[in-house]
Amino acid sequence: MGCASPPARGRDFGCQGGVGSLSLGAMSEPPRILVIAGSARVPSYTRSLSRTVARALEGRGARADVLDLQATPLPSMVPAERARRAGHGDGTVADLFKMAEGASAFVLASPTYHNSYSGVLKNALDYLTLKDMRYRPVGLMGHGGRSTQAVDHLRLVVRGLLGVAIPTQVCTADEDFAPAPGPDGDYQVRNADILGRIDRFADELVLFARHLAALRAEMDAARAG
Ligand SMILES: Cc1cc2nc3c(=O)[nH]c(=O)nc-3n(C[C@H](O)[C@H](O)[C@H](O)COP(=O)(O)O)c2cc1C
Repeated sequence: MGCASPPARGRDFGCQGGVGSLSLGAMSEPPRILVIAGSARVPSYTRSLSRTVARALEGRGARADVLDLQATPLPSMVPAERARRAGHGDGTVADLFKMAEGASAFVLASPTYHNSYSGVLKNALDYLTLKDMRYRPVGLMGHGGRSTQAVDHLRLVVRGLLGVAIPTQVCTADEDFAPAPGPDGDYQVRNADILGRIDRFADELVLFARHLAALRAEMDAARAG
């Protein structure tokens, strides 16, 4: 599964002959995907991975917005404030609501913290409601010794928000990246297996976005009828 060799940077990340070459013709609009990078470290493997995946998704015709929780820290979630939604006074929270409402898929990326995912990511997720994630596909990524602990825990949270976590996940270790960040401040993924997995992850997320959009439309029509 995935590509045998890593794709060239800046080119389409699709696998030759793989599902990555599928057209998005059946969808009226390209999927908008909100990628939440859940590390407050600078530089960050999680953020670098998030940006790499965003490029892979855009190479498949999707629009990917990266919400970097280091550059855009969110205030601690207060339920009474969260309930105001559109009238929320904090601009960063208002932007999160807007991006979440427009998203047809999500990517959640986190460092491994104490055998789980980060607190800043949980804080961001606590602002969201079932309506934001209901029957939308969610791709999960974790960084730290290739542990699956962060993504395993996120899978439960996604179910709580009525999202659909896709089967392929990406879990990395420091040695999957070049040793030092490049001039853009990001670590470059250099492990061919991980790059192949990113291909499969992006293929899957875009396909799930398309099919779940159709499913939501069918369910809404059945409810209205
Ligand atoms: C509070 C805290 C808890 C951590 N817990 C773990 C852990 O349980 N397992 C692990 O492998 N690494 C753990 N780490 C190491 C991080 O996973 C590591 O620093 C990783 O590079 C962070 O990713 P980032 O560069 O995207 O921030 C922890 C780091 C911090 C700050």
